[in-house]
Amino acid sequence: MTSITTIRADVIVQAQQQIQQDLQTALDAFSLPEPLKSAVYHAVMLGGKRIRPALCYGTAALTGDNTNFAAVRRAAVAVELIHCYSLAHDDLPCMDNDSLRRGQPTCHIAYGEDKALLAGDILQSMAFEVLSSRLFDQQQPVSDSIVLKQMQILATAASKMVCGQVLDLQAEGQQVDQAQLEQIHRNKTGALIQAAILLSASTIFPSHDQAMAKLRQFGQAIGLAFQVQDDILDITADTEMLGKTAGKDIEVDKSTYPALMGLDAAKAYAEQLYQQAAEALAYFDCGATELKEISAFLWSRQN
Ligand code: IPE
Ligand code: IPE
Ligand code: MG
Ligand code: MG
Ligand code: MG
Repeated sequence: MTSITTIRADVIVQAQQQIQQDLQTALDAFSLPEPLKSAVYHAVMLGGKRIRPALCYGTAALTGDNTNFAAVRRAAVAVELIHCYSLAHDDLPCMDNDSLRRGQPTCHIAYGEDKALLAGDILQSMAFEVLSSRLFDQQQPVSDSIVLKQMQILATAASKMVCGQVLDLQAEGQQVDQAQLEQIHRNKTGALIQAAILLSASTIFPSHDQAMAKLRQFGQAIGLAFQVQDDILDITADTEMLGKTAGKDIEVDKSTYPALMGLDAAKAYAEQLYQQAAEALAYFDCGATELKEISAFLWSRQN
């Protein structure tokens, strides 16, 4: 497997640089009143691994066709805005009640619950405004049918995230079986990660293309693996490394994979999911280098 340093230097760091610029451009295009503006910038601009945007760019690199790259850039912004909204709300006292996120005070600690709630709300609308805009378009605008498809993909995933979050909260202190836990994790986290890939894929492949089915499988596998690992890291990593409070899941008796099956079995399950992801990528003759590197980065992530 490629070393973590090489991966960081290439695909992930490049994606982080690109998305940081594009998020700044997108946010600056809105004229938000204070203190909402500061709360929004706090929720979006301060760090984060940016793996969803990296997956957008990595998927776009599957073909040499750059015709619709503006729509990929908008999708990367939009999916990250939805993700940042989900985090601002996830941290609220009425949800996970967390005070640390990305090594910073959470949005409601910095700006108050009302502003954090409204920052999340507006980030959701902004995501769809960006996705349906002409931001980053060059001479040739992206076709309306692609934009419509993207709107559908993102809206479906954002709804699933909310459904997953409510199931997650209901499962606190409860015994859930593996099928129920999988449903929670696929919805609250997996759907948006899969959407990052499909949003981009829909700019280069027609819906009936076999590549779409393979990417759906890939996204489903790494999307679930991502939350299994998040559950594992909550136990095995420390607060400084995580940039969020370690050990929170046990404290509030969350339903997690390590709680359900034990730490070692959860790690083995994550590995199995990465194998499934790799099998889906084997379809691509081009080697899917970027997506493989992102998978390797995710597999060995420490936060
Ligand atoms: C954290 O997501 C919340 C989950 C869905 C597990 P990330 O681990 O992608 O958070 P950032 O964006 O890097 O902070
Ligand atoms: C969050 O899951 C999923 C979201 C939709 C934000 P967690 O609650 O486990 O995420 P962290 O651990 O707070 O980042
Ligand atoms: Mg949560
Ligand atoms: Mg949380
Ligand atoms: Mg977590």
